[in-house]
Parts: sequence; structure tokens; C-alpha cells
Amino acid sequence: MKHKYRNAFTGALLSITTAASLAAAQPVITMTSFGTLPDGRSAQLYTLANSQGAKVSITNYGGIVTHIIVPDREGRMADVALGYDMVEKYVAGSPYFGALIGRYGNRIAGGKFTLDGKTYTLPTNDVPGGVPCSLHGGKTGFDKVLWDATPLLASDAAGLKLRHLSKDGEEGYPGNLDVTVTYWFNNKNELRIEYSATTDKATPVNLTNHSYFNLAGEGAGTILDHILTLNASNYTPVDKGLIPTGKVTPVSGTPFDFTTPHAIGERVNTVDEQLKFGGGYDHNFVLDRTGKGLVKAAEVYEPVSGRVMEILTEEPAIQFYCGNFLDGTNVGKSNCPYTYRTGIALETQHSPDSPNQPAFPSTILRPGQRYETATLYRFSAR
Ligand code: BGC
Repeated sequence: MKHKYRNAFTGALLSITTAASLAAAQPVITMTSFGTLPDGRSAQLYTLANSQGAKVSITNYGGIVTHIIVPDREGRMADVALGYDMVEKYVAGSPYFGALIGRYGNRIAGGKFTLDGKTYTLPTNDVPGGVPCSLHGGKTGFDKVLWDATPLLASDAAGLKLRHLSKDGEEGYPGNLDVTVTYWFNNKNELRIEYSATTDKATPVNLTNHSYFNLAGEGAGTILDHILTLNASNYTPVDKGLIPTGKVTPVSGTPFDFTTPHAIGERVNTVDEQLKFGGGYDHNFVLDRTGKGLVKAAEVYEPVSGRVMEILTEEPAIQFYCGNFLDGTNVGKSNCPYTYRTGIALETQHSPDSPNQPAFPSTILRPGQRYETATLYRFSAR
């Protein structure tokens, strides 16, 4: 099979015949067509393969991570990311599978916030509990734009740099926001996402990635037996519209205590008002951290395959969503309908509705400042 890739150092577009044989020796990035958007533009799929033969594929449409192929404890590869095999299916309908989320990941109450005395109105695109809000950047968030892509190669990693200029007023947000997101997949089976942005007017920014994982392999059943640990002694309880009440509450003694490992299914059906509002876990956990830099946020272990995913982040919080809204209407890559709770999303971020919550860490980016944050997903098996 012929693949093309751009050498990061020379900029030359190269053509190779067997990506797999090169992947065994060094990281490599290949590019294939991923289909056509309704407006006629074509989307590409970039596959980042490392020296272990593990692979991550990303499309420039929505910056979506479409595939994460990593070994189990016997070295058997499986794709642990929910998603589709062509861009047309993402356009037709996706609950943000693998996507880059912005300008504001998670919810903003009523689609309104006030900044420097001015009130901004965002289109609302979600109504949990019958209460409208803006979710994940609005109707056409960063998950639905075609990003400019530049493949990158380093000695121990393959990468993809994505850039999007979000215009002043787009989806109701102020300021031209120049966003760069760089994915790196290295020889240690670590996927690192680096986010960066600048603006010419003050604006909220809260970027994340919305991958859904099933460490047994996408389409392989529910995630209820996955064992989760969260480095979070507190979470932000929500109202029926899934907007934080403003309280930061200890998890201790509640079904939200994942400070020690617990199967996701163990307590998800407990009679509890918060679990009722979320239809299960769909909550924001405040990480136990001091200072800047990467800290461990989460670890997920799947006992049958032995696969482990650790998440490290520079962000203050993580949204844990256990696929409560998956209902089988989305049919994935292996022709398997993604049914109730067959994927887990762990989205590193600032807490929901921060622009309206003065006690939460600020998400406001101002001219002259640079938004910079990173998250790392480390895959292994035991
Ligand atoms: C949210 C869920 C939402 C889902 C959309 C998650 O980040 O927490 O409430 O339904 O995204 O697929």
C-alpha cells in the first residue's frame, strides 16, 4: 500500500510502500484520504505509528482521534478508541468521539456569561434536565472545523500539529483566537496533547479532547468492569441542568470516591441525586494538585486484557463521563453499535461554567497572554 508523509525536518512529501516495516524501526506518520465534507473539502487521516507497532490515527476534521491501537498484556493489539472509519460518519452524527473541544469544553449555563461588564450570548445546543446550555463550544465547535495540519517527526515520536483560527464572534465568543494543538505519539505508547492559544480580545478558553475509551477494545461491551482511580478528593456537584452548583464537595463516603480503585459499575446505579442528574457518572472532579506541570489525574485498568491507561495533565480538573447517553444509534468502526455505557470519557479541563463561577479557577485568556496546557495518556498493560 502506498502512503504519503511529510518529513518534518525537510518538509518534503515522501511516498513509502510499507508503513508497517518502517514502523518497526522508527516512528512514522502516514497520510490517507478520510473522505469528503458536505462543502466538498476533503479530510485527511494521519496515522502516527511508533517503534512498538502501536498506532494513533487523527483526522484534521475536528482534530479527532479516530483510532488508538495498543497492546494488551500478551502483546495483542486492539483499538481502544470509539469512533468511525470515514469523515462522513462524523459529520452525520457523533457524540464528540475523539474530538478536540473548544472554544469552551463542557457547559456554560444558559449560554450566557459576562466578561468585563459585557454580557455575551452563545447559541445553546444542549438541554439536560430541560435546561438549555452551551455545550462543548456550541453548534459548530472546534470538533466540526477542518484544521490546518502539519505532520511532525522526532527521533522517538510522530506528531501532528493542528491549527485553527476561531474568528471574533464565532459561536458568540469574543476575539480572534489562534489555536494550535499538537499531538505526539512516542515509542513508550504515550499520547501527548499540547494546546496553545492567543487572542486579541478577552475570551473564555477551555480546550480538551473528548476521546471515549474501551480498554477491552471498541465495541467489546460495557466499561462497567473497568477499574478507575481518580486523583480527586473533591468534585463539583451539579443541578438538574448539569451545571455546577458552585460547591466543591469532598467525595469521601460517596459513590464519587475514586481516590482508591473501584469498578465503574460498582456504585453507578446507587440511589443518589447526583447520579440521577447525570444518568450515571457525568461529573467534574477537582484534581489534588499543587503548582503547575503534569500530575496524575486518572488511571483506568481493564482486568481481562490487562490494559492500563494513565492520564497526566496540567489542568485543574477532569470530567468523568461513563457513556450514559450512548444508545446504540452510533455504529462504530467494527460495525458494532455503541450501546449504553460502552465507552468512558475522561476530559481534562477547567470546571464547567467557570465564566459564571467566580470561585473556580479562571478560564479567561487576555490579549498578550498565551493559553498553554498539556495532557498525556500513557498506555501499558499488566
Ligand atoms: C458531557 C456529557 C455529554 C457528552 C456529550 C460529555 O463531556 O459531560 O454530559 O452528554 O459530553 O457526548
